[in-house]
Amino acid sequence: MSAVSQSAAKEPLLIDSEAAYNNPHAYMKSLREKSAVAITDIGVFVVLKHKYMDALLDNENTRQFELEGMMLRGITSGPLFELYKNAMLFANGDVHKRRRSPMARTFAYKLMDGMRPRVREIAAEVIEANRGKGPVNFLDAFSRAIPARIIAEIIGAPPEDWPKFSGWVADAARGIGFFQNDELPQIDAGVGALDDYVKSLLDERRKNPREDFLTSYAQATAASGELTEEEIRMQMAGVILAGSDTTRTGTAAVLSELLQHPDQWALVCADPEAWKKPAVEEGLRFDPPVGSVPRFTLREMEIEGVVIPEGRVVSMSVLSGLRDPDVYPEPDRFDIRRTGIPKWNIAFGGGAHRCLGEALARAEMEESIATIARLAPDIKMIGDPPKIRGTAAIRHIDAMTVEFH
Ligand code: HEM
Repeated sequence: MSAVSQSAAKEPLLIDSEAAYNNPHAYMKSLREKSAVAITDIGVFVVLKHKYMDALLDNENTRQFELEGMMLRGITSGPLFELYKNAMLFANGDVHKRRRSPMARTFAYKLMDGMRPRVREIAAEVIEANRGKGPVNFLDAFSRAIPARIIAEIIGAPPEDWPKFSGWVADAARGIGFFQNDELPQIDAGVGALDDYVKSLLDERRKNPREDFLTSYAQATAASGELTEEEIRMQMAGVILAGSDTTRTGTAAVLSELLQHPDQWALVCADPEAWKKPAVEEGLRFDPPVGSVPRFTLREMEIEGVVIPEGRVVSMSVLSGLRDPDVYPEPDRFDIRRTGIPKWNIAFGGGAHRCLGEALARAEMEESIATIARLAPDIKMIGDPPKIRGTAAIRHIDAMTVEFH
């Protein structure tokens, strides 16, 4: 990437937003075959090839959005605004590091691997509760329930609170995806309730410390004295929300593809331990829950002749990069037997903001798939497979119905 003279500049292709939303993979492919960069009708540059991911997320070239998204919508106060103002995801440089580091220790691989037995137990409970009951809404009954219950356990919420907790999470999580402004009251109510709840749990641990994550997080942040009270609470709310709809869509996408490829589902069922990881890896590549990661350019960038000026919004299309044939041969083929794939799956982003919850998300998705394969290999998808629409931010999944036999 280097500066080029404006005269040599190539025009980016204009994106038809509706086509991209409704038919994401085929449409992005049609663009990627012609150019490495396209542009939306509101002037967002979209980068389509995998190899530009690192440069695009390099802090020298771009920075993360802060409150611009809120400002553009005219939102200047309220619970969702406070979340954006205080969360690590919407911060840069030292502020970002300060907010991320106390959480990063907790969400480390080793600790999250320790959650695997609990994921298996909860998945087994859900399967047994729904076995033989006819059609089941997989998105709610299974793939929303697992991350909600696991994160509730990590933060030490008592089991009787799980249903209300998961209701707030469902409402609030829409605030970090695409939402219409008329949904704001419900989102604000969800974020507000979650924030109050986190506050009450934190207060309780400060009075009565326990051997748990929340106590050690409360102690670590108090000892460093580097975070405000709002920041402490909002990092909690942030991880709860960031791991909700993403993991819900991810689990459904993996299972849906496996059930549409019975030979590969048979492989997983024959040896769940061996195949759970490749299955999730390929499922996230094939239909990633997060479609793109947007940034602001800090300097002019040039990609294959297209000039992206300084101070513009540029979005790395993770969805397109994961179907880039230079990295994944025959990218439109779902195949859990793929070899030679990159070590870091860009479905979890990259650079300083790479997903903090990757280890937990993988533990949840892998153990969910392995448990279904073990206990309900004859699971049936009823009706059409889910459609996962959209190419930007957290994508939208419509419906998935199954029967557990
Ligand atoms: C399949 C599931 C998941 C996917 C695909 C996913 C994807 C992503 C992506 C792409 C980013 C980067 C966003 C950006 O750079 O703008 C991100 C950030 C983040 N994710 Fe995840 N995520 C998942 C699950 C989780 C879980 C389970 C948690 C929490 C327990 C979590 C917590 C976070 C947090 C806190 C950040 C912000 C990190 C930072 O700004 O430093 N995610 N995730």
